[in-house]
Amino acid sequence: MPVITFANTKGGAGKTTAVLLLATELARLGFRVSVLDADPQHWITRWYENSEGALGRRLNVVPYVTMSTIDRQLAEEKARADFVLIDLPGSRSSLLAKAVGHADYVLIPVQGSAMDAQGGANVIELLQYLEDKADIRIRHSVVLTRVNSMVTTRAMNAVKDLLAARRVHLLETPIIERSAFRDIFGCGGTLYSMDAKRVSNLDKAQENARVLALEVLQQVPRSVPAAVPGLRDVA
Ligand SMILES: Nc1ncnc2c1ncn2[C@@H]1O[C@H](COP(=O)(O)OP(=O)(O)OP(=O)(O)O)[C@@H](O)[C@H]1O
Ligand SMILES: [Mg+2]
Repeated sequence: MPVITFANTKGGAGKTTAVLLLATELARLGFRVSVLDADPQHWITRWYENSEGALGRRLNVVPYVTMSTIDRQLAEEKARADFVLIDLPGSRSSLLAKAVGHADYVLIPVQGSAMDAQGGANVIELLQYLEDKADIRIRHSVVLTRVNSMVTTRAMNAVKDLLAARRVHLLETPIIERSAFRDIFGCGGTLYSMDAKRVSNLDKAQENARVLALEVLQQVPRSVPAAVPGLRDVA
């Protein structure tokens, strides 16, 4: 089943946050989702240990994914999940090349900053290399992260212009800067088990994650199994 790899060689671009939002949202929509946690900070693994039963058996997290284990772990999870999401370290590594090479779709989280854009460009260069040298074409998109809900910054516009000039696909849905997206790692559970009285704009965070997941599903259309309960209602 399709593999979505999240990659940006710049640390802190928002990869792990994007993986968690998408994983929990896809599981909520009824898909079986596995996350391969190759981030040395193990945030998703820790979140999962704190969130027992939050999404039943629809979500599985595989901890401690390394260069020597990824092939086996990926094969196992592909066999049982509708989507496999890979969370990578924020650096150039042979693991990055492998996880990108195995992907059906690569999502590149980029904050509105030149450094993040450069980290994203490294991933796009790798994708280009695979296409030129090995004729492997992997669909990919940039997703803007930590976007201010009130203002569009000049740096953000510069990143958008750069992507358009290079004809890199940009998801229409950005990931907005929301306290819910930070707090979820501390409190565990999902955006739907958080207390709306304690987390500001929780409803907007939920809507952001939902719309993001639906847009990603459109980008990986062949992967949508026919009989996902309720999916037609939300799409
Ligand atoms: N949309 C968001 N709203 C609020 N905080 C965010 C958002 N996205 C990321 N953050 C915060 O920014 C920091 C970096 O995010 P994250 O850990 O997701 O990045 P990363 O790319 O996985 O980093 P690394 O390369 O170190 O693995 C974290 O403290 C996270 O809580
Ligand atoms: Mg991370």
